[in-house]
Amino acid sequence: MHGLAHGRMFGLAMAMALGAGGAWAASASEPMALRGVMQQMEHDTLAANAALRQQDWAELATRADRLAHHAEPPITEKVRILGWLLTDAPTFRNHDVQVKAAATELQAAAQKKDAAAATSALQRMQQSCDGCHNSFRDRYLKRFYDKP
Ligand code: HEC
Repeated sequence: MHGLAHGRMFGLAMAMALGAGGAWAASASEPMALRGVMQQMEHDTLAANAALRQQDWAELATRADRLAHHAEPPITEKVRILGWLLTDAPTFRNHDVQVKAAATELQAAAQKKDAAAATSALQRMQQSCDGCHNSFRDRYLKRFYDKP
């Protein structure tokens, strides 16, 4: 895993170097890539739920693998997000680590055709999606989309 983990110190350093100010201002002409990443994760999560219900283990394993290795925003956007998160960056990142860990367990369960283990891993994964949304989504939308 690289991405947010790798970018964290860099993000903090950048934030300190630039200070809190205009350099971080969101701009409508620069859409955030994170939303597209989330929409793909949503698509894979819905497909994983359907595959589990249908006991389509190959499809479930494929979706789980995609979730465990989901796309990430480009480095410039990550720096922007991490510069905004500052001391909350580790918590934010931990939700993502939990999603990926549960998705990896989901993939292993699918390969073993273990329905009980797959159900539990999928639930844990979705709790980690919700955990990050509950803690960060509103503030993120306020910060990057100026939503009240
Ligand atoms: C590390 C934090 C984090 C994790 C983990 C996370 N999300 Fe998100 N998610 C966000 C943030 C922040 C937004 C708001 C982004 C936006 O609307 O541009 C969001 C938005 C979304 C949206 C709304 C997109 C839209 O079009 O408005 C969906 C759907 C979504 N996430 C699905 C998921 C799923 C499914 C998972 C787990 C497999 C997940 N997310 C895990 C942070 C996270």
